[in-house]
Amino acid sequence: MERTMDDLLKELEELKKEAYIGDEERAKKRKERGILNARERIEKLLDPGTFVEIQPLVLARNTDFGLDKKRKHGDGVITGYGRINGRLVFVYAQDFTFMGGSLGELHAKKISYLLDLAMKVGAPVIGLNDSGGARIQEGVDALSGYGQIFFRNVLASGVIPQIAVIMGPSAGGAVYSPALMDFVIMVENTSYMYITGPKVVKAVIGEDVDHQQLGGADAHTKKSGVAHLKAKSDEEALELVKKLLSYLPQNNMEDPPYVETGDDPMRTDPELRNVVPTNPNVPYDMHEVIRRVVDNGEFFEIHPDWAKNIIVGFARIGGYSIGIIANQPAYLAGVLDIDSSDKASRFIRFCDAFNIPIITFVDVPGFMPGTRQEHGGIIRHGAKMLYAYSEATVPKVTVIIRKAYGGAYLAMCSKDLGADIVYAWPTAEIAVMGPEGAVDVIFRKELAAIEDPEEREKKRQEFIDEYRKKYANPYRAAERGYIDDVIDPAETRPKIYLALQMLRSKREKRPPKKHGNMPV
Ligand code: HXC
Repeated sequence: MERTMDDLLKELEELKKEAYIGDEERAKKRKERGILNARERIEKLLDPGTFVEIQPLVLARNTDFGLDKKRKHGDGVITGYGRINGRLVFVYAQDFTFMGGSLGELHAKKISYLLDLAMKVGAPVIGLNDSGGARIQEGVDALSGYGQIFFRNVLASGVIPQIAVIMGPSAGGAVYSPALMDFVIMVENTSYMYITGPKVVKAVIGEDVDHQQLGGADAHTKKSGVAHLKAKSDEEALELVKKLLSYLPQNNMEDPPYVETGDDPMRTDPELRNVVPTNPNVPYDMHEVIRRVVDNGEFFEIHPDWAKNIIVGFARIGGYSIGIIANQPAYLAGVLDIDSSDKASRFIRFCDAFNIPIITFVDVPGFMPGTRQEHGGIIRHGAKMLYAYSEATVPKVTVIIRKAYGGAYLAMCSKDLGADIVYAWPTAEIAVMGPEGAVDVIFRKELAAIEDPEEREKKRQEFIDEYRKKYANPYRAAERGYIDDVIDPAETRPKIYLALQMLRSKREKRPPKKHGNMPV
């Protein structure tokens, strides 16, 4: 029997309908809870009408355990490409309404192919994750699928930006692809990430914990640091992706896009002179410095709720993207500890891989002392800061605002770790250690010889003042050329802008090697 084109197109339409969405009833129920379905998520993310789907007709070939009846075209993941603000991106969205968004062999193959394409053309990948993990019925084929995705995530690392949005469960193997990507964004209340769920936790270690406590957005943006950003809804998460991408290049061979911000790069700000309190032990909020320096005060903070003693994020100066790393004196006095070292190091490496200049604002009393930190490996973790800054070849400009003591001074992108330009405010204190600690070491004998406690404390204060005058200032470092100039705080923005303009053609060679061995 001959079939007409109309027949053939009808057949195609039926197949595509099957691939459209997993289970319509389930999708409806999720909608009532304010959860978008996989297609709606893609539509909300991309410029209208730009999505081009690929491989909608893929079908699972495993048929054991009733899969012959369950399998459907599309295999529970929608993949394709489109535009965000006119720029090409690749996107996949897992469909929880089809077998819990579980990852089977073909589902994985679609994602892997998308990653291959994205790497070939050099455009970011965005994964919208909503999955119960490896499709149990597909056994080792599902495991292999994950392996293939992980392998590609690693190949793509440092080549194209990879962003994971967690919009539902991300259980078992589903956590590791996001973990290998550059940024993880989680939706409050509806998403969770864990290796093993509450039932297994109860069975193995007897602990009672629910999905959210174990792996919700709060757990991962505040405690574990696995997720970088938290959104109130699916829509907000997708907006965060767009904003994040606006600071990034398409790939490691390009520069980030220039954006006309309308903020004069030579603008000075006399208010900056009043930000740092006269008493060096009084905290202040480093966000204030950042906001006054960057274009229109716009700072896109990454990891805002984790390891708050260091601040990292993107901004622009004179329309060009920059990555900012800054100690936060308002939280744990801005001390460097295990988590803040991890947070900053990863961010520095991202900026370096994607040609984003690094601006460092320093006010650091030192590394955090104590058994918890030492036994947790502060030496190993703190070393990552030294490694990441030394390795980075993008333009590096450092501004020392106040304290810069000891190893932490070095770790915060000092000249010796390759900073191209280092400025200090007149409030800067650059020394081996803070005045109190230093005096107790170097004048220990003199002080111990004074019997009267009041007299001893008076003398101690005298020594502290003397030390502060002699060492706790920027001028010793300036005399030796460790800092390039002491500047009026009001001029911080134009000074950074001019330094970055000068550094735009920076080229820095490193010894050839396969790769270094960063302490992890
Ligand atoms: C196959 C799965 C599945 C999976 C869910 N489903 N997860 N099918 N493989 N991994 C199916 C369910 O059977 C159900 O099908 C439908 O999806 C919806 O799931 P529900 O359980 O009804 O949804 P909910 O109550 O919202 O619970 C979601 C969930 C739960 C918490 C994610 O489904 C769950 O615990 N799933 C298993 C999670 C897990 O242990 N994954 C690890 C797999 S091992 P029906 O037909 O009833 O609608 C792994 C190792 C890989 O990933 C290692 C690589 C490194």
